[in-house]
Amino acid sequence: MPGRLLGRERELAKLAELLQAASSGGGAFAWLEGEAGIGKTRVLDSTAQIARERGFTVLSAAAQELEAHRPFAVVADCLRVDLCELTRAEELLAFIEAEAEAETARSPVLFVLDDLQWAGPSSLAFLGRLALELPALPALVLAAARPLPRRPELERLAAAIGARGGVQVVLGPLEAAVCEAIAEEIIGGEPGPELSARLGSCGGNPLFVSELLGALAAENTMQTRPDGSVEVGAAGSPRSLSLTVLGRLSFLPAEVTELLALASVLGSSFSASDLSLLTGRPTAQLWGPLWIGYHPRQGRASTIGVYGLKLPTP
Ligand SMILES: Nc1ncnc2c1ncn2[C@@H]1O[C@H](COP(=O)(O)OP(=O)(O)OP(=O)(O)O)[C@@H](O)[C@H]1O
Ligand SMILES: [Mg+2]
Repeated sequence: MPGRLLGRERELAKLAELLQAASSGGGAFAWLEGEAGIGKTRVLDSTAQIARERGFTVLSAAAQELEAHRPFAVVADCLRVDLCELTRAEELLAFIEAEAEAETARSPVLFVLDDLQWAGPSSLAFLGRLALELPALPALVLAAARPLPRRPELERLAAAIGARGGVQVVLGPLEAAVCEAIAEEIIGGEPGPELSARLGSCGGNPLFVSELLGALAAENTMQTRPDGSVEVGAAGSPRSLSLTVLGRLSFLPAEVTELLALASVLGSSFSASDLSLLTGRPTAQLWGPLWIGYHPRQGRASTIGVYGLKLPTP
């Protein structure tokens, strides 16, 4: 059972505003983006909760990495329809569109689509079409995706939504005070200075905060002091945390994770020329593996997972 949602007031207020507009007929598309573990699913859940309290029907589904080949998979799951009988793409599309319209005729609807980085091309194409019709429907489509792995179809959909007045909400790192409050809820005491410093190395990522605390607890390295604060010895990162991080980065090609591991000695951000010196490889060669994290739509380099690394800027 997850603890309370902390922080994210601004983002939730924006989404609540969109729900308000949708319930009076001005449908909209909201695109929620953020790195793995930053809290997208939590924000989706909280928005769904607000929507239910306001009389919305909430229909939700998450794309599955292994189902990208199933036509309209995440969309059909969201609408709870079985598409097995239909085989032609146009039939499928017409059926799904009719279902979506029928749902919105009954009550305002919040469609929640999580993990769209794994969605197949037909689902993404359908969502692009739906974005065109939304202004006339009492519905909010709330879609969430990680910025990585980057896929051209996803980039195109996000750009199309933006061009049609959709709202983009980027979940950035949580402030240090919020991470400390999350930690306090988990460990039942205020973090001491050394533990606070460790929490700071989680880059504002709540998943890594809870993983770090879980790993420290498993290794029995945390102690509650007489004043009620919780402190930890000054040792390196627990091994189980490194494994979690590597698991989250497993979609990256091996060459990229190897380079990032090397680059981590340069700090949380680094210049291409320093990495070139460190690896003995020309700067031009490093761009091949590292461009993957550059995010042209946001016009900045992305932070990659808990390595806390920002990619070099040119
Ligand atoms: N604002 C928050 N307050 C408290 N806990 C949070 C908050 N945001 C996220 N968490 C916790 O952090 C963990 C990761 O959050 P979540 O699963 O929502 O991330 P995500 O962005 O959906 O990750 P992924 O891309 O892997 O699906 C969960 O345990 C969640 O309960
Ligand atoms: Mg999630």
